[in-house]
Amino acid sequence: MNILNELRTRFQAALAGFCDDPASFAWMVKPAQDTRFGDYQANCAMSLARQKGVKPPELAKQIVDRLEVSDLCEAPTIAGPGFINLRLRNDWLRGQMQQLIGDERLGVLPAAQPRRIVVDYSSPNVAKPMHVGHLRSSVIGDAVCRILRFAGHAVTSDNHIGDWGTQFGMLIYGYKHFLDREAYDRGAVGELARLYRLVNQLSDYHDSIKRLPELHDALAAARTTHDETATLPAVSDKALDETRKKSLRKLAVRVAEFEQLVAAADQTIAAVESDETLRSLAGAHRQIAVASREETAKLHAGDAANLALWQQFMPACLAAMQTIYDRLNIKFDLVLGESFYQPFLAEVVANLEQQQIATTSNGAVCVFIPGFEAPFIVKKTDGAYTYATTDLATIRYRVETLSADTMLYVVDARQGDHFKLLFETARKWGYDGVDFRHISFGTVLGDDNRPFKTRSGDTVGLESLLDESIVRARAIVDANDDRKAGGAELDAGERAKIAETVGIGAIKYADLCQNRESDYVFSWDKMLAKTGDTATYMQYAFARVCGIFRKGGIDRAALRQARGEIELATPSERALALQLARFSEVVDQAAAECRPNVLTHYLFETANSFSTFFEHCPVLKAETDASRTSRLLLADLTARVVKQGLELLGIRTIEQM
Ligand code: ARG
Repeated sequence: MNILNELRTRFQAALAGFCDDPASFAWMVKPAQDTRFGDYQANCAMSLARQKGVKPPELAKQIVDRLEVSDLCEAPTIAGPGFINLRLRNDWLRGQMQQLIGDERLGVLPAAQPRRIVVDYSSPNVAKPMHVGHLRSSVIGDAVCRILRFAGHAVTSDNHIGDWGTQFGMLIYGYKHFLDREAYDRGAVGELARLYRLVNQLSDYHDSIKRLPELHDALAAARTTHDETATLPAVSDKALDETRKKSLRKLAVRVAEFEQLVAAADQTIAAVESDETLRSLAGAHRQIAVASREETAKLHAGDAANLALWQQFMPACLAAMQTIYDRLNIKFDLVLGESFYQPFLAEVVANLEQQQIATTSNGAVCVFIPGFEAPFIVKKTDGAYTYATTDLATIRYRVETLSADTMLYVVDARQGDHFKLLFETARKWGYDGVDFRHISFGTVLGDDNRPFKTRSGDTVGLESLLDESIVRARAIVDANDDRKAGGAELDAGERAKIAETVGIGAIKYADLCQNRESDYVFSWDKMLAKTGDTATYMQYAFARVCGIFRKGGIDRAALRQARGEIELATPSERALALQLARFSEVVDQAAAECRPNVLTHYLFETANSFSTFFEHCPVLKAETDASRTSRLLLADLTARVVKQGLELLGIRTIEQM
């Protein structure tokens, strides 16, 4: 049972007649911050009293008089300025535990109104090596799918790969001019990645040469403005002085930004000019950027040779992606990339024009959305369709063919405007009944607070990141096993398997435990720490609970079947039971908000709660048989909740580590 929802429903009934909108005041029931006062707390009396001009404690009393919760709570108390505190009855809580023991779903009820949800995530641009940025979408998207499925919704996961973009023009150009045939035969993906990087590097080089003079001018201008402001005569007016200091700081930031751009351009140029081969290639391919764009245009126009190359590249690219998904244990129901929607684009634009949703402006077909300066361009001046057009065609397909009523896009926050325009356009186009949501996330940063890069400045490849995590995890697993009191327990094969589970789990958890909108700093030490809010801590906690059963020679399934009684004799037993009873409410919240960190936070608290319980309450050596059984049952429930919770995050557990 979702306790929070139940209490809110009871409050809503009690508040009916007190206000026009009882539901929103009932929403103010929350889990208590300070558990000394109770398990849940409502502050609605304060806001409502302000509205009505009565004293909050008096109103709180009136609400409490009408509140019918005696079946699950002790008599509510009113505290301080009008907080209503609720404490669940011990017998009720014990009843809840008793139910959980026999419930595979651990109290989570399937959604009353199941939705048909398409989750668009991972969606990398293929043929470029996947990097850490793709990790966030993949890991968050996978967890969101698992949580929504468990909550009872019909979920279709769709990897909307970028398989039709400009990178293919670059690859085709590279293939036609720079191919190392032998390397390609040995491993197509490696060679394609090299070609992509080479073409990119050469076009960046020419672009930097072209832009460098402008950049120098802009830097000089920024410096002049800064220096002029800095040397203005002093003023006595305090406010004016503050304003000036502020603008001086801003100007300094601008100077630093241009300095960085100049330095980056210098570096790009130097990298090519210091290398004999690269320099001569650059000289021979001055038009490489334009020529690559032309190759893309030819591909899109159906040129047979380019299409054949595209078809030749794709299987290898997809296979490389699949290796990563397999290691991450991420599966998709559909992989319908941008290329799939190409046949529909002309019709989409025609339809938008016909319905006068799109109009031609400066030769481009655009949708104008009030409140947005930039239009949503569905056909460019040169006749090319866009990312936007494809996304519109995709929406139509998902509604008409997949019968989706909800679409979630797990995509980088920097695409926020694209999605706002997309959703508005789709609503105008008739899909106003669909619940569209951009499940947005921030950037993974390095120690320097800049987007995560390797020392050499490349973006970090995903494959090597996973490898490194497993190597680091192995050291932890080895040390832990070697240090065991009764001697090491694991052989090399077991250690390797655990290291894989710990290494992958750590990377996933580090991402999932963040508020997804925030940027976060990538740190090996933090994510693999054995104590603290990490997968490693949780996985070891789980194994520790399983260890109790191993040590006591207890069969967990038989224990459950024996239907022993749960006693909540001590505060730490009660606190653990309350925590376990809240699983359903947490899963519901994580599902409603698409926030895996709600779940990680809960699991961390649960593991801590178990720790406290285990410190205070002997389990195998409990004083009475009844108490031993009760504690074993609590331990078993803890293990099940942690395992299920981690599973919803896509993180594996191992019983012996
Ligand atoms: N391929 C895009 C990128 O790497 C992300 C696609 C997200 N999904 C979508 N339907 N637009 O930026």
